[in-house]
Amino acid sequence: MEIKTGTYSALGKAADELRRLVFIDEQGVPEEEVLDALNLQAVHIVAFDGGKPAATARVWSSGDVWRIGLVAVAKAKRRRHVGESVMRAAIKYIASNGGREILLTAQQEVCGFYEKLDFAPCGEAEVFESGFVLVPMKLCLSP
Ligand SMILES: CC(C)(COP(=O)(O)OP(=O)(O)OC[C@H]1O[C@@H](n2cnc3c(N)ncnc32)[C@H](O)[C@@H]1OP(=O)(O)O)[C@@H](O)C(=O)NCCC(=O)NCCS
Repeated sequence: MEIKTGTYSALGKAADELRRLVFIDEQGVPEEEVLDALNLQAVHIVAFDGGKPAATARVWSSGDVWRIGLVAVAKAKRRRHVGESVMRAAIKYIASNGGREILLTAQQEVCGFYEKLDFAPCGEAEVFESGFVLVPMKLCLSP
C-alpha cells in the first residue's frame, strides 16, 4: 500500500474514481455533493494498492479551522485498517501545517471508526431527508 498526499491535479482523478464508487454508486449521494468545487482547493490523500485507489480523504482549512472529508475505502478493502492509515496521513498533514484542531462530519453509523482515532462528538446530530444522520466530531491535537 502506497499513500500519497497532493493536489487535485495530481490525485483528483484517482480520488474521484473511488468517491464515485463509494458515495455516488454505493450510498446514493448526489454527484454535486461529492465532485464539488472544494476539491480544487483541498489537499487529497489517496492510498494505492497495486496501483489502484483503495482509500481516500480530503483535507482543507479556512483560517485556523481544519477539516477532513469524503473519507472512503473501496468496499473490498474495508476492515483492514486502510481507512485508519488514510486518516492518520490526513492528521499528520494537518499537524505538520500547524493545525491544532480538526473538525469533520461523520455518518452516524461510522462514528466508532472516528472515535478509534480520538475524535469526539462536538454538537447536535443533523438528520437529512435522504436518511443520513450526520454527527459533528472534533480532534484536538497536542502541541
Ligand atoms: C468508514 C470507513 C472509511 C472505515 O474504513 P475501514 O478501512 O473499513 O476501517 P479500518 O479498518 O481502518 O478501521 C479502523 C478501526 O475502526 C473500526 N471501524 C471501522 N469501521 C467502523 C464502523 N463502521 N463502526 C465502528 N467501528 C469501525 C475498525 O473495527 C477498527 O478498529 P480496531 O482498530 O479495533 O480493529 C469505510 O467503512 C468506508 O469507506 N465506508 C463507506 C464510506 C463512508 O461511510 N465514509 C465515511 C463518511 S463520514
